[in-house]
Amino acid sequence: MPFPRSFLDELSARSDIVDLVGGYVSLTNRGGRYWACCPFHNEKTPSFSVSPDTQLYYCFGCKKGGDAVRFVMEMENLSYPEAVAFLAKRAGLEVPDEQTDRETARKRARLLQLNKDTARYYYELLNTPRGEAVRAYLDRRRIERRTAVRFGMGASADAWDDLLTAMTKRGYSKEELLSAGLIVKGKSGSFYDKFRNRLMLPVIDTRGDVVAFGSRVLDSSEPKYMNSPDTPVYNKRRVLYGLNLAKRTKRENLILCEGNLDIVTLHQAGFDNAVASMGTALTPEQVRLLARFTKELVLCYDNDNAGKIATEKALALLRESEMNVRVLELPRRRTETGELVKQDADDFIKFHGPDAFEALLSGSETGVAFRMQQVAGKHDLTSDESRVAYCQEVAGVLAEIPSATERSIYTVRAAEIAGVTAEAMELEVREARKRRRRAEKNAELRRDLNPASALQPSAREIRYDDLRSARAEEGVLRLLLLDPALFPQKPPPELRDFSSPLLRRAIEALCEQLALGHSASIGALGESFTSAEVSHLVSVSQAPESLANGAKALQDYYEIIRQQAQKRSGREEDPLLAAMQRRRS
Ligand code: UTP
Ligand code: MN
Repeated sequence: MPFPRSFLDELSARSDIVDLVGGYVSLTNRGGRYWACCPFHNEKTPSFSVSPDTQLYYCFGCKKGGDAVRFVMEMENLSYPEAVAFLAKRAGLEVPDEQTDRETARKRARLLQLNKDTARYYYELLNTPRGEAVRAYLDRRRIERRTAVRFGMGASADAWDDLLTAMTKRGYSKEELLSAGLIVKGKSGSFYDKFRNRLMLPVIDTRGDVVAFGSRVLDSSEPKYMNSPDTPVYNKRRVLYGLNLAKRTKRENLILCEGNLDIVTLHQAGFDNAVASMGTALTPEQVRLLARFTKELVLCYDNDNAGKIATEKALALLRESEMNVRVLELPRRRTETGELVKQDADDFIKFHGPDAFEALLSGSETGVAFRMQQVAGKHDLTSDESRVAYCQEVAGVLAEIPSATERSIYTVRAAEIAGVTAEAMELEVREARKRRRRAEKNAELRRDLNPASALQPSAREIRYDDLRSARAEEGVLRLLLLDPALFPQKPPPELRDFSSPLLRRAIEALCEQLALGHSASIGALGESFTSAEVSHLVSVSQAPESLANGAKALQDYYEIIRQQAQKRSGREEDPLLAAMQRRRS
């Protein structure tokens, strides 16, 4: 349950961090900051600092940092709400659970009821003459009526204010409809329905509440899919389409796809364990949600370039998870003209049938096989030089496999791909394992020298895919904190080229704070960021940044970010695709 922002502001105003930390360690003032020996790791010279300006703490030794709430969480080993309660008590503040809570709860309940009434309205409209076009569309996509019913599908009318009128008649206010994302305000100040003449797909969470809507156009116009925005009852990072049904599956795993209608087709074909991330990148919140319902996750993204990149990103995120992860790779389809085209789960089932999908599912590859392919895609395996490079790189992947049997199977496979003997490949893998062990030893030694660093997940969890771009992205973050006026658009459109999901999320969250009329503060990022992430962001904000020519600096950062994004997309496209196609033909 999130605390009202006004309360958190009041709480931090009354919880001076210098005062708070001073109660645990003795602080010395030096150069505008307070210093102490770090309470989170053993040290003899103080590297732990507290800033009265930013109200943040940061240890230059163990790299932990955050605001007052975070400090209490770490120090007293409390959860976020517990730490808030702890500080509230200390500051003599009431935690707003009664009055305000009841008010928020009432509003939420109203919105959920509105969503439910709306879903029913769309559902009923589907069976009237005005639902004709959507019914025809369902037929075209071979979606059976019982499937449509199971998913609660509906139709929005081909009119500007159909839902608006219907729901106002039922006593809902314009503000409520707006807040639920069901209507939009036009330029002239009048309101109209957000969803018109579309197939409606209610998004239902695992509690059974209709929290949002997805929708699809009936022809080839744009946007193809249109979804509800985030609302007080919907956070797209925390919901997966179809999980309300899939959570009851008897199958042993869950299948994650990109598209809503992929899920519909899969369920119809008997794969009632499929869920969709609705076109957005998988989030840590969704990973936690999935892990509550299954021990094994099968990634089934589209087999195009974007799908491959999404798979890699998801695999990186899932490395920290306890779930087993497999990758189901859909083959490309050869058309009558001999061309190889992409297909998603929906296409695959339609062309090859459920049995073929079942076969793919049972043979779906582990993350290792997928990563091996990615490596193969990077090297042009026709020249000797690049085959050597391939062997060396793929050996690094193979060296990570703990089981000897599994390792040897994949080693043989890699040897075949490279066109070298299995013995040669084995040798390469043995070397890579040696290097790995040496690196681990060294890391251990370093940890022994500094025991606290063993407790530091930060360096391991936060990894940049593109260092040059990330450094510039960090600069953008600092400028936003220092001078929000440099950003006419919040969030800036340049965010789409960011390489680091963490920095992008941080800037989005900070812009949201600004949009709500607050000042941007890393300390107030709250629960959706882990302690390691907050620590990292605090460390980023510590680096020097000059405001003297902020506008110019910002443009330079944007330029680097843009260049890097371009480089990445170029790199991702050609060699990978080329190699994949070569091996398939
Ligand atoms: P795709 O473009 O791959 O479409 O989008 P699809 O799922 O194959 O759709 P059909 O088969 O043409 O109906 C994948 C997912 O990305 C989201 C949707 O959730 C979609 O299912 N998406 C796509 C959007 O949110 N907006 C869009 O404009 C397009
Ligand atoms: Mn599709």
